[in-house]
Amino acid sequence: MTLKPTGSVTISIDGTDRSAKAPLIPGTLGPDVADIRKLYGDLGIFTFDPGYGGTAACDSKITYIDGDNGILLHRGYPIDQLAEKSSFLEVCHLLLNGELPNAAEKEAFEKGVLRHTMVHEQLRSFYNGFRRDAHPMAVICGVVGALSAFYHDSLDINDPDHRRISAFRLIAKVPTIAAWAYKYSIGQPFVYPRNDLGYAENFLYMMNAVPAEEYKVNPVLAKAMDRILILHADHEQNASTSTVRLAGSTGANPFACIAAGIASLWGPAHGGANEAVLKMLAEIGHKDNIPDFIAKVKDKNSNVRLMGFGHRVYKNYDPRAKIMERTCHEVLTELGIKDDPMLDLAMELERIALSDEYFISKKLYPNVDFYSGIILKAMGIPVSMFTVLFAVARTVGWVSQWKEMVEDPAQRIGRPRQIYTGAPQRDYVPVEKR
Ligand code: ACO
Repeated sequence: MTLKPTGSVTISIDGTDRSAKAPLIPGTLGPDVADIRKLYGDLGIFTFDPGYGGTAACDSKITYIDGDNGILLHRGYPIDQLAEKSSFLEVCHLLLNGELPNAAEKEAFEKGVLRHTMVHEQLRSFYNGFRRDAHPMAVICGVVGALSAFYHDSLDINDPDHRRISAFRLIAKVPTIAAWAYKYSIGQPFVYPRNDLGYAENFLYMMNAVPAEEYKVNPVLAKAMDRILILHADHEQNASTSTVRLAGSTGANPFACIAAGIASLWGPAHGGANEAVLKMLAEIGHKDNIPDFIAKVKDKNSNVRLMGFGHRVYKNYDPRAKIMERTCHEVLTELGIKDDPMLDLAMELERIALSDEYFISKKLYPNVDFYSGIILKAMGIPVSMFTVLFAVARTVGWVSQWKEMVEDPAQRIGRPRQIYTGAPQRDYVPVEKR
């Protein structure tokens, strides 16, 4: 897309008469961005921004976050409206295509995606190559990557039809692959998808049903799962999305790119945080131990963090966390859990942290993962599947961002620079002289 500057920033090297102008580009919302692409040519210098906290790596129309005010918009629609009124597949249409579908488009899109839920039968044998106690993230990373070895008819990234079909395939097949990773880990037979069920309902069905018995998914839990998927569907240029874009910028096929995104999501600083929150709550054990735990978090030498708190972009309450807390109460009520010690502990931990100067001064608030683990645990989802579930939801975000990038004629390979701090050039020394 052509970006139109509305001003410029002058960058000058102190003590010299050398300076250059960087065009200033406005977005629809958010701060202006200085375009430094010509800086090296003009001044012979690079910018340094490890962690990319101050760098826009692309222009995008998909998701907007105002971290100071706790706002998250998908294609302009606030996340709370989507979570309350929409459905996951409708949000998938919105993210992928830019608009909410009308009734006919919605039906066609849902049918189009859902008819791809089965995986090539040969793919089943991949599971046998894994140990039964393998982490399901390891399994889905491998099996999703393997999709590129099966769907040769949708690998041409320059063909819009191939892009559409591979997007549908990924959104439809990742839940099947994820549920099978779980079934494999507990030694139960794989349950084939049912396209007469809703997206979230089908996922819960494949996770929980067994061929020997009838299984009906609780509609309240299916609705809650659908909402959890919406809340995780996309989140701008986070680590895993940037990984997908970087892999995709080389022309790699979408299945390989999404496998790269899954690998990036796995870490505890990103998608692994919901798993880490439950481990943390189990370690704290009781409300009486909260002050000691908070003291450890505040101790610079302890390396202990309050998991599910803090965010690179949100310096306010993560809007998804509020919806997640509400959903948590709904799910526990539906399941007849009146007093959940884990939830009580989490709420007390949140209350204490939000009134503590350490967290206030650093603007650390609950993020989406603080309550999601408690809901998922109550729904009977094993802890090792939490990050997998995040990957199921985020697949549409990754695919939408990948598609937007591939369709941008200005797209180039991603290739950051560095400050080299190693040895200067030197001559090879033969081993006997070292
Ligand atoms: N607990 C205690 N202190 C924290 C926490 C936390 N959860 N998060 C940040 N801080 C402190 C840091 O120690 C640092 O303090 P300092 O300025 O005295 O050095 C300051 O706040 C800034 O922290 P950074 O690590 O520089 O912030 P960054 O933006 O790099 O990290 C991150 C963001 C990784 C999410 C961090 O807040 C964190 O580790 N949180 C816990 C893990 C978590 O919940 N991750 C999920 C993120 S949401 C998602 O991926 C879906």
